Amino acid sequence: SAAEKGGYDYFMLKEIAEQPKAVADTLLGRIGTDGRLTLDELRISASDLRRVDKVVIVACGTAFHAGMIAKYAIEHWTRIPCEVEVASEFRYRDPILDDRTLVIAISQSGETMDTLMALRHAREQGAKVLAICNTNGSTIPRESDAVLYTHAGPEVAVASTKAFLTQLVACYLVALYLGQVRGTKWGDEILAVIKELGDAPTHIEQVLETMEPVRELARSLADAKSVLFLGRHVGFPVAMEGALKLKELAYMHAEGFAAGELKHGPIALIEEGLPVVVVVPSPRGRSILHDKIVSNIQEIRARGARTIVIAEEGDEAVAPYADHLIRIPATSTLLQPLVSTVPLQVFACELATAKGHEVDQPRNLAKSVTVE
Ligand code: G6P
Repeated sequence: SAAEKGGYDYFMLKEIAEQPKAVADTLLGRIGTDGRLTLDELRISASDLRRVDKVVIVACGTAFHAGMIAKYAIEHWTRIPCEVEVASEFRYRDPILDDRTLVIAISQSGETMDTLMALRHAREQGAKVLAICNTNGSTIPRESDAVLYTHAGPEVAVASTKAFLTQLVACYLVALYLGQVRGTKWGDEILAVIKELGDAPTHIEQVLETMEPVRELARSLADAKSVLFLGRHVGFPVAMEGALKLKELAYMHAEGFAAGELKHGPIALIEEGLPVVVVVPSPRGRSILHDKIVSNIQEIRARGARTIVIAEEGDEAVAPYADHLIRIPATSTLLQPLVSTVPLQVFACELATAKGHEVDQPRNLAKSVTVE
């Protein structure tokens, strides 16, 4: 009913709008005023966490993209090697696991069969499993050693939005917590990140307030045959998530690539007028990443692409090469997905609406896939 949708036409629009609150609720009570994390709910002891020598993340769909982003954060902040794999591939390749492996299973519903089978396999090999889940008491957290709940509230639309952002928050918290219990030096970078996590709800709100041009652009692309998405570093999984949203909702061909891979194949796809969305890392962080993506934008534009550039406020270097420029608030490199994903959700939702598709219930898809 309209009341359930809170006045929005679709649950997806409501859930996109709820993201600042979902992120704030997931942070609530977990970061102290001194910047120390309290995750007492994790039933894995500090001594077990100190013994961990490898992290393996398993998940499906959108949750897998959260896992890809988590890998960058975990390895950078804790120096523990981290792998991430789609759950459906995991157990069939005989992965190397033991009692020093921490497996993180990410699932909104907690009922995805592929993810459940992956975690059962991991526990049989003696690994400890931590679930990141949005559904209290569901199967995946019940079968895990520990759980960190995301507090997105019920997500009804099949395409995941607010659950994804809260999965990112949970992954950042786990990475920081691992660093904390293992005595990683809490330098200025980490303290800045912790403070910035607290600002994320405000940043997301700012993005939501500036989405009208994105909706307009999406409507103008309703007849496009294909859309490409490019990113580097954590912008790469964000590009994959942008492409997935477009497939799910608009039934369009879409691909997300690592921008550095362009020259190894995808650049052959560029033709006059092809829309290409580029997620640009902050020029203030690792500036080499930024320089490289600016050349990528130039390369595709020279070949006729219509460039849709997502870049932070104040990044002027990209402006001359952007046919459409979408601004996001300045953040640190690793936290950018919390804001850069939002325009891609809005873009896919509006494009699907323009095509007359059922946004909340796309054809052939289920909210939770309980078969392998
Ligand atoms: C289905 C949904 C996706 C979701 C995936 C994983 O394919 O359509 O939106 O990302 O399952 O779901 P989970 O509940 O495990 O996060």
